[in-house]
Formats: sequence, structure tokens, C-alpha cells
Amino acid sequence: MTAGRVPPAWTAAPADSVLLDGFHAVKHALRFGATPQALLVTDRAATRALAAELAPDLVDLLDALAEEVPAETLRGLLPRAHPTGVAALAHRRPRAANLATLRALPRPAPVVLLEDPRNLGNVGAVVRLAAGMGATGVVTTGTADPWHPNAVRGGAGLHYATAVERVTLDEPPPGPLYVLDPEGEDLRDVRLPDDAVLAFGTERHGVSAGLRARADRLLALPMRPQVSSYNLATSVAMTLYHWSAAPSASAGPGSVG
Ligand SMILES: C[S@@+](CC[C@H](N)C(=O)[O-])C[C@H]1O[C@@H](n2cnc3c(N)ncnc32)[C@H](O)[C@@H]1O
Repeated sequence: MTAGRVPPAWTAAPADSVLLDGFHAVKHALRFGATPQALLVTDRAATRALAAELAPDLVDLLDALAEEVPAETLRGLLPRAHPTGVAALAHRRPRAANLATLRALPRPAPVVLLEDPRNLGNVGAVVRLAAGMGATGVVTTGTADPWHPNAVRGGAGLHYATAVERVTLDEPPPGPLYVLDPEGEDLRDVRLPDDAVLAFGTERHGVSAGLRARADRLLALPMRPQVSSYNLATSVAMTLYHWSAAPSASAGPGSVG
């Protein structure tokens, strides 16, 4: 490979391919079924050593998929190349399959609904939480693409481990709608069912009147007086943990691989 030559597989990848930037993101995506169209590494031996240390299950697969390129080639392809010198392009998980998963009942674990999220780092953090906790998926309303590169970066490649899609409030996933809002009843007194849709408001303005009107229950996270709210991703973390800690939760992190 001469310096600067871009591998054809990278150039040929469709424009809506997902960029997996760094070893950590590529590792997670491969574990959960992503099929990269191109996987570039700047140092094959170093990547192999990293995999042996952090992901022994993937050493051979990474080696088979990787194409070695000079560091300057990768730097020319990415806005800021990751220090591990690993990057891949992959197809999104198919929308139809994700929607089928999100709409299927009964479901083993809740769906998280984010109303019009604005901060893509928050979206990624929530995807990572949902993946880790074994939630069925994460849906967003509004204009932000939950598969935006910044959200995928925040999600550490775990968009492949749960069903992530954009929907409208007119057709949310089925199931009882539990809306998290500081004015609701105390979450600690409520057992969240596995088929719940757990909905959270936008970072700036909170829950809209439309979402509030649809709620089966309005639930509050405990908070001492004079604190007005928690960060969005933090709120999702507490709520999913509360679901998983109930004796009735049928899924959750202990029951996923
Ligand atoms: C950053 S907060 C929104 C803050 C917004 N200024 C407000 O007044 O609601 C984003 C979302 O996190 C959830 N949230 C934050 N703190 C909460 C709490 N104490 N109880 C329930 N939900 C909370 C809600 O769904 C909220 O809409």
C-alpha cells in the first residue's frame, strides 16, 4: 500500500454507512453482528496485540477483515483519527428488522423513548446504557438521527446491540407508556413492567404536553429540594437500573451474553 492510497472498499461504501471509529467501537460492533464493508488499521501487529489483550474472541476475525494502511491515509479519511488507528465502515442495522423488534409483544425488556433529543452525546450514552442493561431498544423522536456519527461514537459501537430507530410520537412502540418527569409519582414505589416504554423529555424543555397527555403513568426520580432535574442519560440510567433490580424483571444485564 503506497502512502495516501484509499482502499477501494472504503471508497465504495454507501454514503449512509456507519463510521466505527477506534478499536472499542469496532470491537463492540463486531461482537453484535456488524458486517464491515471496510476495516482499516494503521498497524496490524499492534491491533492484533490490542485484540489479544482486550478482545481475544475477535483476534482472528479482526485480522481477517483488516486492511493495513499508512497512518496518514487514515488521518486523511477521518476528521480526527482515533489513537488506536482502527476504523471501519458498516451498514446500519436494517430499519425493518429494528422496527419489528420494537413492535413485537410480549417483549422481554423495556424500550427507551427519547423525545426530541438535541445532544448526540446523550443519545450515544443512552444507547450504551440500553445495550448494557439489555433493553429492547432506543427510539427517538424529532429531527436528530440516532445513528449520526457523533451518537455512534458516544455509543461505543453498541448501536448493533439494541434496536435504535427514529419514530414519530404518532406511532410509538406499543406497551404501557411511563413518562419520566420530576412532577410524577415516586419511581421507587412503582414496579416497571418488561413491556414498558420508558419516555424521557428533551434536554432543555423536558417532557412536551403531547407526550405527557399520552402517559399511562408519570414517574419522578428522587431528588432533593432545589435540584431541578438530572441529566437525560443519567435519568435513563437510574430508571433502567430500577427496572432491572425488580425481582420480576425477566431480562436485564444478568441474562444477556
Ligand atoms: C435534563 S432533563 C430536562 C430538564 C428540563 N429543564 C425540565 O424542566 O424538565 C431531561 C429529562 O430527564 C428526565 N428527568 C430528569 N430529572 C428527572 C427527575 N428528577 N424525575 C424524572 N425525570 C427526570 C425527564 O424525562 C426530563 O425531561
